Amino acid sequence: MHINEAINPFQTIDSRLAQTLAQRFASPVYLIAKQAIVARLAEFQALAKHYYPHTTVALSYKTNPIHGLLALLHQQGAYAEVVSGEEYRIATRLGVPGTHIIFNGPMKTEQELTEALLQGAYLHCDHLDEIDRIEVIAQRLKRQAKIGLRLCFIDEQTNWSRFGFAVSQYSALPEHAIHVVKRIQASPHLNLAGLHAHIGTNIRDLAQFAALGRNLAAFATELLLQFNLQLEWLDVGGGLAGISPRIDEQQIGPHPLPSLDQYLAALITPLLPYLTSLSKPAQLFFEPGRTLFEPFAGLLTQIIGRRRDQPELAELICDAGFNTLATSHVYNHPLHVPSTTGDKRKTILYGPTCNQADRLHVPIELPMLIPGDFVLFYGVGAYCMSFSYSFIRYRPGVILWHGDDQADWLRYPESLEHASQLERLPISA
Ligand SMILES: Cc1ncc(COP(=O)(O)O)c(C=O)c1O
Repeated sequence: MHINEAINPFQTIDSRLAQTLAQRFASPVYLIAKQAIVARLAEFQALAKHYYPHTTVALSYKTNPIHGLLALLHQQGAYAEVVSGEEYRIATRLGVPGTHIIFNGPMKTEQELTEALLQGAYLHCDHLDEIDRIEVIAQRLKRQAKIGLRLCFIDEQTNWSRFGFAVSQYSALPEHAIHVVKRIQASPHLNLAGLHAHIGTNIRDLAQFAALGRNLAAFATELLLQFNLQLEWLDVGGGLAGISPRIDEQQIGPHPLPSLDQYLAALITPLLPYLTSLSKPAQLFFEPGRTLFEPFAGLLTQIIGRRRDQPELAELICDAGFNTLATSHVYNHPLHVPSTTGDKRKTILYGPTCNQADRLHVPIELPMLIPGDFVLFYGVGAYCMSFSYSFIRYRPGVILWHGDDQADWLRYPESLEHASQLERLPISA
């Protein structure tokens, strides 16, 4: 199956199958389309290696931290990209060795940094205090710490500027960056071995990735020229788009899934002159989140009631709310309607929580739906499960869908019993 032709991985789910899955598991329930997501990662890995053989794909944990999904994709050789000690410990729990973990993010405790150093993780520094902290730990451990710097290139293509060390002119190393590099090089306990940049998310304009490639190559080349410093790795982050249109795009229906071939060509081509000039090949890391996960998860939800049922307008209440479709305030996730009987009419889908804002989509033309019918939102595999929260209702479970009625639980639905474990009643006087 070529992924770009199958944007809706759930198109074979008809009303009978939706009913079967809901009865066997639950409604609402998140579904992850196993074959399609495995194929997308395989395609990413193969194409990246085609452009530059020393390439490794790391999974952006925060994009979708469902353990069973991560474990499945780690089996394909993907590394872990984590941004907190909590995520680091999930990777460890899944059996990922430190040498296959990239540790990013603006907060890493002393203990987390110590463990990551001892376990050989790729450490990307976000700010100067972190570099100072790593130096003290390395000194205590009597070893030299290999570190990477997160850079943020300030140019007309820049999306994000909150993280890492800002580089405003990339034709020559700017003062601030020189200061940071000199500070690292002067320490016997630190070794600048990598550069990292992540420019934003949901990016469709490949020119932005080409600019990232040029910027990183220019900076790395200056390190070579001015400091005779050969890097061991470059990490270009994530950022490529998925299929769901943003609400402010005024588009209903999915975008085509961006071509990995074109994306990788745009990013890797400007890096090649630098990479091929090194005496020892450097690793090139990618940290895809959205483009890897987003198209391949769905949320199955059942219509439980009608607020309005007129030929020109239906207002329907679903059993999944905005806390479950947690990215619906930014994205109009595409809809798959298993039952396609009846004329279309303008339909508003509400969630079940008692909150005025609990609406799942802008008004949309849908076939006639009645209580008991199902709708399936897809394009929800990125940040939706990780942002979802219990509000009035608990978070639903997640299943790995193999096709037809074959599926397994990846995470059980939350329950009162689960939620109560952390609660304490006040000690009575
Ligand atoms: C450092 C880093 N890497 C990778 C990602 C994944 O990004 P995306 O989901 O846009 O591919 C993020 C997300 O914000 C990130 O902060």
